[in-house]
Amino acid sequence: MNTELFNLEGKTAIVTGGANGIGKGCSQMLSDAGANIVVADLKFEDAQKAADEINDQGGKAIAVSCNVTKDEDLINLVKRTIDEFGSINILVNNVGGGGAGKESPSDISVDDFARTFQLNVFSAWRLSQLCAPEMKKAGYGSIISMSSMSSVNKSPAISAYASSKAAINHMTANLAFDYGPEVRINAVAPGAVKTDALASVLTPEREKKMLSHTPLDRLGKPEDIAGAVLYFAAPISSWVSGQVLFVNGGGVQTLD
Ligand SMILES: NC(=O)c1ccc[n+]([C@@H]2O[C@H](COP(=O)([O-])OP(=O)(O)OC[C@H]3O[C@@H](n4cnc5c(N)ncnc54)[C@H](O)[C@@H]3O)[C@@H](O)[C@H]2O)c1
Repeated sequence: MNTELFNLEGKTAIVTGGANGIGKGCSQMLSDAGANIVVADLKFEDAQKAADEINDQGGKAIAVSCNVTKDEDLINLVKRTIDEFGSINILVNNVGGGGAGKESPSDISVDDFARTFQLNVFSAWRLSQLCAPEMKKAGYGSIISMSSMSSVNKSPAISAYASSKAAINHMTANLAFDYGPEVRINAVAPGAVKTDALASVLTPEREKKMLSHTPLDRLGKPEDIAGAVLYFAAPISSWVSGQVLFVNGGGVQTLD
């Protein structure tokens, strides 16, 4: 097997929300493949802990305090990455949130709806805009954004989150034209993954119902999603851009 196809040595990856959950799984797996890691997170202490773990295991990582909804934080993130590692090759737009079946139009405002798009869509668009020129300069670029099964599911009280994740899918397909051929851009759409975000709404009854629609008979782990991110980040996917990969145990998990 040609292991070079999965080798990220000498490449630098930014992972937003990289301190916990799926983002942490991505930080670790990209580091295992040889990349320098920038763990960018709102929770700086958690980011530092994740970076320390990588460094203790022989990888190279730094933590950067960053709220992806603040433009000055995104500009600083790019600068810190270049100052530390000299280039940017991989961007994982992992931060996202909302949904959880709590978005009935009778309960949320237009500001809540706009905030969901700001967190899930505008931040990914803007950080991609800031990173793509650096990737072109470096001669290798791959952007991966975190979508969700919600982007295609139809469920009650989740219209803001679900439509923002659908926007990620279509934005990815269109940006592939704008950033190619030097930079590839793809999305990963997880099903239900056992993280803190899911734990806040997962009951044993809901899990049982989800598993009844899941051929692989378990919910996801962060590393299941990180494996798909590694595929898009690495040279093995060098003719793949504008795509969305659903990683969901072969099934459909919804909260209703
Ligand atoms: N867990 C699931 O079942 C699931 C399913 C589908 C999609 N997703 C998507 O995967 C991504 C990660 O989800 P998760 O479950 O790992 O979440 P999580 O809550 O476990 O972790 C999210 C991380 O992002 C950080 N963060 C939150 N807001 C931030 C901000 N404004 N700026 C910077 N960092 C911020 C948090 O501090 C945390 O470290 C999200 O885009 C989510 O929509 C998750």
